[in-house]
Amino acid sequence: MNPVLRTEGLRKAFGGIVVSDNVNLSIAAGEILGLIGPNGAGKTSLFNLISGVLRPDAGSIFLNGERIDSAPLYKRARMGIARTWQNMLLFRTMTVLDNLLVGPRDYPGESVMRLAFGRGALRVAEAAMRDRAMGILGRMGLEQTASSLVVDLPFGQQKLIGLARTLMNDGPLLLLDEPMAGVEGAAYETMQRVVRQEAEAGRAVCVVEHNVSFIRDLCSRAVFMANGKILQDGTVEELIASDILTELYFGV
Ligand SMILES: Nc1ncnc2c1ncn2[C@@H]1O[C@H](COP(=O)(O)OP(=O)(O)OP(=O)(O)O)[C@@H](O)[C@H]1O
Ligand SMILES: [Mg+2]
Repeated sequence: MNPVLRTEGLRKAFGGIVVSDNVNLSIAAGEILGLIGPNGAGKTSLFNLISGVLRPDAGSIFLNGERIDSAPLYKRARMGIARTWQNMLLFRTMTVLDNLLVGPRDYPGESVMRLAFGRGALRVAEAAMRDRAMGILGRMGLEQTASSLVVDLPFGQQKLIGLARTLMNDGPLLLLDEPMAGVEGAAYETMQRVVRQEAEAGRAVCVVEHNVSFIRDLCSRAVFMANGKILQDGTVEELIASDILTELYFGV
């Protein structure tokens, strides 16, 4: 079976800095892959290459076997690449619900697609998106925040809203860039549960995270990256036992 995501020989450099150096990565449906590495390793850049924010200098990217590396960002989102952003990028002075309604991949919105919808059909599509948004908030125990402004919510809930917006895109690949940074307590538990449910529903998930215990709890496989290169790809146990991680996190 094809993996959901596969990259082959992916390369990207900014001047002299190589952020992606012959990266070969694959993620299967239902898998949660951990992506670990020091600051500046190229983790976010890899997400940018996969989601279409950046174009690779060389190499290829396949989504369910289809080559996508020349498709623009919006098309890749429509094909079902959903991602969170390291710095969230929520509309802080909009309501939670309105933030979610900018997330889906097939929303008629203010596009030419609108013309293809009759007014009745549009109302039905909008109601379906609202239901979907409320369903996702409900799974997180956040339905009562729907009409709150994002700026008024505690940080952990804002991170969950970032995930909720990303989940409005129900495509096959989910890329999470440091979802746990600064999150603790109930929000931490919720984040873990929801990410696990998404994989159980059959999505391929990749999580960038410095929190090794989060990776250990969630992922069976993890990749370690530094200077744009994948240095290790194996089980989380192997990675935790290896010198690489000890050096990085305990300065040995
Ligand atoms: N658009 C860009 N132009 C130039 N350099 C960039 C650009 N984006 C990233 N870089 C550089 O590429 C390197 C890798 O950055 P990247 O953000 O991918 O690292 P990261 O692994 O996500 O780090 P962190 O853990 O801090 O988030 C860094 O040296 C960064 O400064
Ligand atoms: Mg990053």
